[in-house]
Amino acid sequence: MRTIKFFDSLEELNRFAAEKFGEIARASINSSEGNFTVALSGGSTPKSLYQLLASDEYKNKVDWSKVFFFFGDERNVLPDDTESNFRMAKENLFTTLEISDKNIFRWQTEFKNAEITADNYQSTIRKFYEDNNKAIVTINDCDCPRFDLILLGMGADGHTASLFPFTEALNEKQKMAAANRIEKFDTTRLTLTFPVINNARNVIFLVRGADKTEALYEVLQGNFQPEKYPAQAVKPDDGNLLWLIDSEAARLLN
Ligand code: 6PG
Repeated sequence: MRTIKFFDSLEELNRFAAEKFGEIARASINSSEGNFTVALSGGSTPKSLYQLLASDEYKNKVDWSKVFFFFGDERNVLPDDTESNFRMAKENLFTTLEISDKNIFRWQTEFKNAEITADNYQSTIRKFYEDNNKAIVTINDCDCPRFDLILLGMGADGHTASLFPFTEALNEKQKMAAANRIEKFDTTRLTLTFPVINNARNVIFLVRGADKTEALYEVLQGNFQPEKYPAQAVKPDDGNLLWLIDSEAARLLN
């Protein structure tokens, strides 16, 4: 099921997102699996959401000891690099909440070789799911974990995670984690793939800013061109898709 909600400000968007995060987390923790797996988004938009989740107002609404953090994507940099999505989450969420390292699974970019990092991450996810009796579902050719929640952003070009237009990883149907060459940035990024994203129980997009207006119109109301607008390919097979959009990004939408 797809739901789209609009907000006049990022603050209102974040409040709704924080409430939703808490709802999903508590439902997952209270389920037979007894824990909550979330893949965090990188970029700048979610930073204020992470700060809100770690604030006095929200931090006591979730049993963080039962929350296990993964990352939807990562730059191929060391974890203390200013570009690192892990570092952003650590600074704005993990440190304040005193999250144990045992509950955090980052892409181990120390390998330098992105393909090894991606294969390692896939093994890390799989091992966690097998050791903790979490659901792994076979979708087409992918034995994919079912994340309880995947947070995503969307770039001004319609990319999501590090699934950029016209890049190899868009077509990955078997692996759940890939190294993806991004020619326009002359770099290789690390990303979860569509099979695992579309196998999530819940996917929440956080989209704000005037620079997203055109891409968001194309993604939500344009022709289906997922190679050109990869965010269009996020369609959970058996999960909830929630778009949280601010008024600037929504300007062209009916
Ligand atoms: C990243 C993110 C990326 C991000 C979008 C939107 O590593 O940067 O995973 O997909 O979500 O680029 O970024 P902003 O939220 O900064 O606009």
